[in-house]
Amino acid sequence: MASKFQVPRGTRDILPGESERWVVLESSTRDVLSRYGYREVRTPIFEATDLFVRSVGEATDIVRKELYTFEDRKGRSLTLRPEGTAPLVRAYLEHSLGQTDPLTRLYYIGPMFRYERPQAGRYRQFWQIGAELLGPAAPAADVEMIDLFYWILRAAGLAEITVHVNSLGDATCRPVYRERLRDYFTAQSDRLCGDCRERLKTNPLRILDCKVPSCQPVLAGAPSVLDSLCEPCREHFDAVRAGLDALGISQETAPRLVRGLDYYTRTVFEAYAAELGAQNAVGGGGRYDELVREFGGPATPAIGFSIGMERLLMATGPLEVGQPARPDACVVAREPSATWEALKFARSLRNVDRYDPQDALRVMVDPGGRSASAQLKWASKIGARFAVFVPPDPDGYPVRDMEAGKDEAKQKSAESLRHWLLERRRQVGPAPEGAAR
Ligand code: HAM
Repeated sequence: MASKFQVPRGTRDILPGESERWVVLESSTRDVLSRYGYREVRTPIFEATDLFVRSVGEATDIVRKELYTFEDRKGRSLTLRPEGTAPLVRAYLEHSLGQTDPLTRLYYIGPMFRYERPQAGRYRQFWQIGAELLGPAAPAADVEMIDLFYWILRAAGLAEITVHVNSLGDATCRPVYRERLRDYFTAQSDRLCGDCRERLKTNPLRILDCKVPSCQPVLAGAPSVLDSLCEPCREHFDAVRAGLDALGISQETAPRLVRGLDYYTRTVFEAYAAELGAQNAVGGGGRYDELVREFGGPATPAIGFSIGMERLLMATGPLEVGQPARPDACVVAREPSATWEALKFARSLRNVDRYDPQDALRVMVDPGGRSASAQLKWASKIGARFAVFVPPDPDGYPVRDMEAGKDEAKQKSAESLRHWLLERRRQVGPAPEGAAR
């Protein structure tokens, strides 16, 4: 159907049929997070622009090219959040969350905004699940975080996950590595793309992230960060890898993994899904031991990750399922004067005043004021299992099995019918949500 308006480029509508999958993903994720002791934070969708410039980093693609920045009516520069870690750290400090619990476990689920070139799996508005653990510096925190990352992905139905891990060193050894890289790339600069030559001046580590084919042979020969780690960073990284082995998390060391944000120190990690093609990172994260202090807080080591929800859903099934949700029953008004009774009777079958998800029947009424036979046709079209007729006969409510096309025994009351419908559903399973994988 033609409309004067379309969804903005790089964004998408999540429609019935797909939205049920989102609900399932959100609830499996919240469930895993709560079992690990994480609690939710909901921050605003926009923040002061400086928050992202100072954390994500001035030299990153995100800040240089991808921010949605605007001035409000008082001339303040605001930015739609491109990621969730900086806002969460801001909230953590603003509300002194670290004072009540020195090990603070927090998560968020929400949309992020980056002005990227849209393609499959890459959007300008996309959703992330993110978790952050603030306080501990020990390698066991990294291991627990990666374990959580792994199990959220598993609970969402992703099979065969290998977590790629690397260490970016710290304030002692990273500058040494950066210089080694700068020397190496300077000697090869005529073989680098224009962007990489620019990165050579601002942050040579970013070059390792370049996807331009002509740069790849140069990248392949670049010195490895792992050869430049100082002793404490090396020990930390070894302990993280040993911990992942101990927990049975499949891992691969990826010395070229640098990530697209500047706040990382030491451990970084990512997971990929082969199903996704070019945009194959389902999620990633790492340690950011300096960020809380850079925001003016006390020295607080921290680690976290985010998962791209569209990508995770794409990797675990078709994004658009388009299957309608089947009602357990439709209530049919036998004559127009029974419409109110149909609406009321349907409500009592739904039992919404004592809402219990185990006990919830989906019951619908055609409010179009049509004939009983038109209502029945509609009930069959939307896949209702049973039709119930009001007003009742003197000996009970007539019930028809829509699939078998036969009449069932009449039911004396709404309550007995409700139990009967629930029993039928227990026998054949709930009506498909459109969410089934
Ligand atoms: P990130 O790697 O920039 O990390 O994003 C995490 C995930 O978000 C990616 O792996 C990808 O699945 C998804 N994603 C990113 N950009 C897009 C896009 N344009 N369209 C669709 N999906 C996308 C962060 O954002 C960090 N805050 C992670 C973190 C948390 N580090 C520490 N704590």
